[in-house]
Amino acid sequence: MADQKSGAAGGTISRDDLAALLNEDLAREYQAIIAYVVYSQVLKGAEFMNIADQLELHAQQELKHALTISRQIDYLGKMPTVTPKPVKTSKDAREMLRFDLDNENETVRNYRERIRQCEALGEFAMAEQIRQILVQEQDHQIDLATALGEDVPDMSAPAKT
Ligand SMILES: [Fe+2]
Ligand SMILES: [Fe+2]
Repeated sequence: MADQKSGAAGGTISRDDLAALLNEDLAREYQAIIAYVVYSQVLKGAEFMNIADQLELHAQQELKHALTISRQIDYLGKMPTVTPKPVKTSKDAREMLRFDLDNENETVRNYRERIRQCEALGEFAMAEQIRQILVQEQDHQIDLATALGEDVPDMSAPAKT
């Protein structure tokens, strides 16, 4: 299975494995779109009005990421997935932001690995596209951590599997 071969060091994988991993990334982008569309509208409380506006912007950026990733999957000759990762909901504003931050952390960890995998396959243009997405995902992390009054967690450690 692709996940087991994808090691933290981003060792060489097949193009089919890369397409499968990008489909996981795409499912995470769909998840992010849905979460931000909903959370940006239902977040209540004066202290969260600023972040609610930012979440609306995130929603639009996540849609662009989904389009970019979908294009890369098609380029690899595979069919982009139509299924999002599950979206958690909560009535508590801080909990919603916590779910978002956890997801962004996971996304950042994955894209860092994906860039190494693309480069190992000589797919430098794809790596560049994902780098540009990664810049925005890290911004999302910062926005959410700031709203929660926390530091951005260190995601440079290898995935927990
Ligand atoms: Fe994204
Ligand atoms: Fe994001």
